[in-house]
Amino acid sequence: MRVAVLISGRGSNMRALISSCRTNEGPAEIVCVISNHPDAAGLSVALDNGIKTEIVDHRRFADRASFESELGRALESADIELICLAGFMRLLSPDFVNHWRDRLINIHPSLLPAFKGLDTHRRVIESGVRVTGCTVHFVRSKMDDGPIIIQAATPVHPDDTDERLAERVLHLEHHCYPLAVRWIAEGRVRVIDERAIIANADITKTWLINPEA
Ligand code: GAR
Repeated sequence: MRVAVLISGRGSNMRALISSCRTNEGPAEIVCVISNHPDAAGLSVALDNGIKTEIVDHRRFADRASFESELGRALESADIELICLAGFMRLLSPDFVNHWRDRLINIHPSLLPAFKGLDTHRRVIESGVRVTGCTVHFVRSKMDDGPIIIQAATPVHPDDTDERLAERVLHLEHHCYPLAVRWIAEGRVRVIDERAIIANADITKTWLINPEA
C-alpha cells in the first residue's frame, strides 16, 4: 500500500512510521512526505531515509481550494492509497476529506472525543482528568473526528507538566500509529456504521486505574 505522510513540523510520528514500515517488511510503504512548511524539521529526516519529499506551502496559495488542489496533485501523481496526517496543522476542507474518505487517517494526542483541538495537554491537566492518551482515527470533515482505529492510555500524574505529559503520550503515539497503518495495509480495517472494525485484533485484558488507592 502506497502511503504519504503529511507533516508540519518535527515529524517524530513520521519517523516511527518510516522505521516500522522498513523493519516489518509489511505491506505498507512510505513513498512520500509532504510538508506545508518549508522549514519543517521532519523533511530532512525523510530525506536522510531516502524518501521523496515535497513542500506545498499554504502561504503561496490564494485560498484553501488552490492549496488543496496542489496537495491532491502531489498525492495523485505518487499513486497514494493512504494519507497519514502526522502533526499536519492545517484543517482540510470537507471536499478534500470526502474525496479521501477512509483513505485518510490522523493521530491526535488525547483520548478522543475528549480534548479535540490544540493545546491538548495543558487542557487535560487543567481539567483534572486522571487518564489521557492518544487516538488514531479516520478523518471526517469535523476537526479531530471520525471512526477510531486504536487508542492507548496513560495516567495523568499530579505533578505533570505539559512537556512531561506530552512526552509520555508521544511514546504511545509512536507505538499506535505504525500498528494502525499496518492493519489498514493488511486489509484488516473496515468502517461499518462509522465505527472502525479491526479483524483478528487481540482485545487488551488489562485496565488502568488512577490513583490506585
Ligand atoms: C503529535 O503529538 C500529534 O499527535 C499532534 O502533533 C504532534 C506532532 O508531533 N497532532 C495534533 O495535535 C493534531 N490535532 P510530531 O511532528 O513529532 O509527529
